[in-house]
Amino acid sequence: MPRAIIVYDTRSGNTGMMAKAIEEGMKEAGVEVLSKRTVSATANDLAGIDAVVLGAPTYHHDLIASMKTFLFEMEKANLKGKVGAAFGSYGWSGESVQMMTDTMRHIFEMNVIEAGLKILRRPGESSLRQCQEFGRKVAEKIKMTRR
Ligand SMILES: Cc1cc2nc3c(=O)[nH]c(=O)nc-3n(C[C@H](O)[C@H](O)[C@H](O)COP(=O)(O)O)c2cc1C
Repeated sequence: MPRAIIVYDTRSGNTGMMAKAIEEGMKEAGVEVLSKRTVSATANDLAGIDAVVLGAPTYHHDLIASMKTFLFEMEKANLKGKVGAAFGSYGWSGESVQMMTDTMRHIFEMNVIEAGLKILRRPGESSLRQCQEFGRKVAEKIKMTRR
């Protein structure tokens, strides 16, 4: 069974809701998923993983500090060619998703999904369905790269 990790942080819960729905979509599509907050995730969690899905909201046009720290932690793992995807809730500009996507592509040379998933503020029912769909899309990409 393919294995993936979702590493995310959230301040007021919106990106956390997205993480849960993405996890559901991936599991439905047959992927084993471990979901962790940035503060408790380490490079050890990335061993033997097929995909890394990162989630962070945008604050002050930037990534939150805990995700920046985790991106440095990711340097310790060899993620070249692995599937990468990013998501996050935002209020008006939402730069965080592109920042995580760019780092996975340019620094870790991962096989990233463009574009990542941005949801405006608190996800409602249809946004949560979009998150589940995004989870299934990540699962499909993992299956294609494992062939
Ligand atoms: C102090 C503050 C600064 C923010 N700065 C931005 C910003 O620069 N760009 C943006 O798109 N949203 C910004 N937001 C909105 C948050 O990204 C939005 O509320 C998001 O849903 C929070 O997600 P979370 O619940 O996962 O923390 C800001 C919110 C606050 C409270």
